Amino acid sequence: MKVTDTIVYVGVNDHEVDLFEGQYQVPNGMSYNSYVILDEKTAVMDTVDAAFGQQWLNNVEKALQGRRPDYLVVQHMEPDHSANIPLFLEKYPHVQVVATAQAFKMMNQFFSLPSDIQQMPVTNGGELALGTHKLTFVCAPMVHWPEVMISYESEEKVLFSADAFGKFGALDVEDNWVDEARRYYIGIVGKFGMQVQNVLKKAADLDIRMICPLHGPVLKENLGNYIGLYDTWSSYRPESQGVTIAYASIYGHTKEAALCLAEELRKNGTTVAVYDLARDDMAAAVADAFRYSKLVLASNTYNAGINPFMNDYITRLAEHSYQKRTVGLIENGSWAPMAAKVMRGMLEKCKEITFAENTVTLMSAMKSENEAQVKALAAELR
Ligand code: FEO
Repeated sequence: MKVTDTIVYVGVNDHEVDLFEGQYQVPNGMSYNSYVILDEKTAVMDTVDAAFGQQWLNNVEKALQGRRPDYLVVQHMEPDHSANIPLFLEKYPHVQVVATAQAFKMMNQFFSLPSDIQQMPVTNGGELALGTHKLTFVCAPMVHWPEVMISYESEEKVLFSADAFGKFGALDVEDNWVDEARRYYIGIVGKFGMQVQNVLKKAADLDIRMICPLHGPVLKENLGNYIGLYDTWSSYRPESQGVTIAYASIYGHTKEAALCLAEELRKNGTTVAVYDLARDDMAAAVADAFRYSKLVLASNTYNAGINPFMNDYITRLAEHSYQKRTVGLIENGSWAPMAAKVMRGMLEKCKEITFAENTVTLMSAMKSENEAQVKALAAELR
């Protein structure tokens, strides 16, 4: 598949994966992207997941049209992109491998490569001329691992962006880019907002006409929209006004309060996303907490703490540097309700969290006083 006359897509679609990175649901599969640049010299940009080695090699061979590859550029050592380095070097032992020093270190940790592989270590700002095409490498530590670099090709003004600007979903399935890119970004890179901001600052000086990520489609139009979303996500600003309500409920009473709040908010036109943390996709619930300006956590008290699904959810939010949001609390407990105190305590380490003044406290089941509390909380969150 041609990206341009001289850049060829040689990646693969994965419809067999059950959980990406062992944890993310990917009902539409996943793509592992790789590209071949054809010039006086030829370069292959990254490999693909271990399960697709032969298919990828065939794609590369076809793209090369009888030529030999000169360079293998390794932008990222996570196995979804690096697993086939040994297979590639077995077939093309003469190739020069281009990567950061840290990537070479990881290469030796993951594989037992021949000692005579041709290594070309590069540093930030390093260049590789292929002919009219010239790659400039920009270190992008923690987007998503420390060894990552992205590559700017100045002839066609293409940014090879590694994991950045990627998404869940195979390329042969149509879905909503922003929803699956957000879920991917928040889950995979969300903790590293500052590092993403640093890369965006470096990229601001580049004339970019096209973005070639390691997952998801090549982006050719409205690049300002995608870059703007990355700026929003990585600076932890809400993308939209609205309320995410995440609940964990044993017998349905806490759920009833959560749904009652959703109904109250919707009556006034507030956008609301509701998640049952025991049953819905946790990664989507986390992503929507970052998407919207406000969050309500509703949990039963459990073993003098909170529901284990809520514990998992708040832990994930905190791990992903959740911040700059308003949070409301709904708790339930039949003899000693503790959930609001515990949830608040878990979020206290997060920056710039404003807690709603109104908390809903159920003593077992919804009563008229709880309806009033829900209305008061809704009024505060609108
Ligand atoms: Fe798609 Fe961080 O690997």
